[in-house]
Amino acid sequence: MAERAAAPQKKGLEGIVAGNTSLSVIDGQQGLLSYCGYNIHDLVKGSFEETAYLLLNHKLPTQMELDEFNKQIEGESSLSREVIKMIQSLPNGTNAMAALRGVFSTLGYYDDESEDNSGEANRRKAIRLIAKTPIAVTTFQRSRNGQEPLMPKSGKSIAWNFLYMLFGEEPSDAKVELMDTVLILHADHGFNASTFACRVIAATLSDIYSAVTGAVGALKGPLHGGANERVMNMLLEINDVDRTEAWIRNALANKVKIMGFGHRVYKTEDPRATHLRGMSKGLAEDTGESKWYEMSQIIENIMVNEKGINPNVDFYSASSYYMMGIPIDLYTLIFAISRVSGWTAHFLEQMSDNRLIRPGSTYIGERDLEYIPIDQR
Ligand SMILES: CC(C)(COP(=O)(O)OP(=O)(O)OC[C@H]1O[C@@H](n2cnc3c(N)ncnc32)[C@H](O)[C@@H]1OP(=O)(O)O)[C@@H](O)C(=O)NCCC(=O)NCCS
Repeated sequence: MAERAAAPQKKGLEGIVAGNTSLSVIDGQQGLLSYCGYNIHDLVKGSFEETAYLLLNHKLPTQMELDEFNKQIEGESSLSREVIKMIQSLPNGTNAMAALRGVFSTLGYYDDESEDNSGEANRRKAIRLIAKTPIAVTTFQRSRNGQEPLMPKSGKSIAWNFLYMLFGEEPSDAKVELMDTVLILHADHGFNASTFACRVIAATLSDIYSAVTGAVGALKGPLHGGANERVMNMLLEINDVDRTEAWIRNALANKVKIMGFGHRVYKTEDPRATHLRGMSKGLAEDTGESKWYEMSQIIENIMVNEKGINPNVDFYSASSYYMMGIPIDLYTLIFAISRVSGWTAHFLEQMSDNRLIRPGSTYIGERDLEYIPIDQR
C-alpha cells in the first residue's frame, strides 16, 4: 500500500518536533542552552564529570555521588589489548573520525554486556564509553606518531588525562580548565544530527555501540562537528590578518559557506560561542600568538554585521584548539569525547520510553509507469 501522502515539508526537517527530551533545551531566539534545566553558563563553573552525571541521571550529583561516579569512570579507564591492537593496525592516513567510528564498533565486540539492553547494563556501558573515548583518541594519535599508548592517571579528571595522554606530559591547570569547559559546552544540544541518528538507532532496540557508531558518523560531516577543523584550515589558508577581509568577501561573493557560522536553531549568538571567543582571546594573550584571534574577529564582524549570521560553537573552538597545540584533525574528536555523554544519555532516555522512529515522506517520483521487459527497453 502507498504511504500516506504527507504535506510537503521544508527540507531537512526544519521546524519539525521529532520527540520529547528532558536532557537539553535551546532557546534559539535568546541564545540560551541548558542541560536538564541548568544553564550552561552556570554548569561551566563545575566539571565535565558533573555535567556527564547530570545528563545520565537528570540531576546534579552530591559530592558523594560525584566521587562514586568518578570512581566508576576510573574503573573503566582502560582499553583492552584487542582494541589497542585494532587502533594500531589502522592503515596510514586513516581519517581520525573514521578511526573513532571503528573503535566504537570494536569496543562492542569486546564487551560481554554489549547485547544486554537492560537499563543497568546500558548505564554501565554509557560510563564505559565516556571513560574510554579519550583514551581511544589519544591512542590513535600516539599510534600514528609511532608512540605507545599512555593510560590515564588515577585521581585526575577526564580533561587532565586527555591532555596528559595526548601530549605525554602533565598539563597546566589553565589548560585543564579550558579543556574541561570545552567538554562541558559540547556535551548535549537537543536533537542535533548525531544525537538524532543515535536515537533513531536506539529506537529500533539496537545496542548502544551501534548507536554511538552511527552518531559519530553523523558528527564527522562538515555541516555538523566536522566544521571546526575546516575553520582552522580556512584560517591557515588565509594566514594573514591583512588578507582576511578580502578573502572572506571574495568567498561570500562566490557563495562559499563560511565554516563555523550559521545554525539551524540559533538566530542570535550561540551561547557556547561566547565562552569559546573568550577562550580564544585569552589564549591569544597568553601565547602571544594573536593572529588567529584577530583574523577570527575580522571574519565575525563581516559575517554578523553584513550577513546577519553568527558564529557557532565551531568557530572559536578552532583557533583555541590550535593555540593549545592540538592536531587539527582531532578537533572533531574532542567534540565526540564530550558528546558521547549526550549520545549515551539520549540512548538511555529513548530506551526508557521507546517507540520506533519512522517518519513518513512526500513521494515526488513518477507513478503507474508501464513495466517494459529489459530486452525491449
Ligand atoms: C549550520 C548550517 C548547516 C545550518 O544550515 P541550515 O539551517 O540548513 O541553513 P541554510 O544552509 O539553509 O542557510 C540559510 C541561509 O544562510 C546562509 N548561510 C548559512 N550559513 C552560512 C555560512 N556559514 N556562510 C555563508 N552563508 C551561510 C545560506 O547560504 C542561506 O542563504 P540563502 O537563504 O540566501 O540561500 C549552515 O549554517 C552551515 O552550513 N554552516 C557552516 C557549517 C557549520 O559551521 N556547521 C556547524 C554547525 S554547529
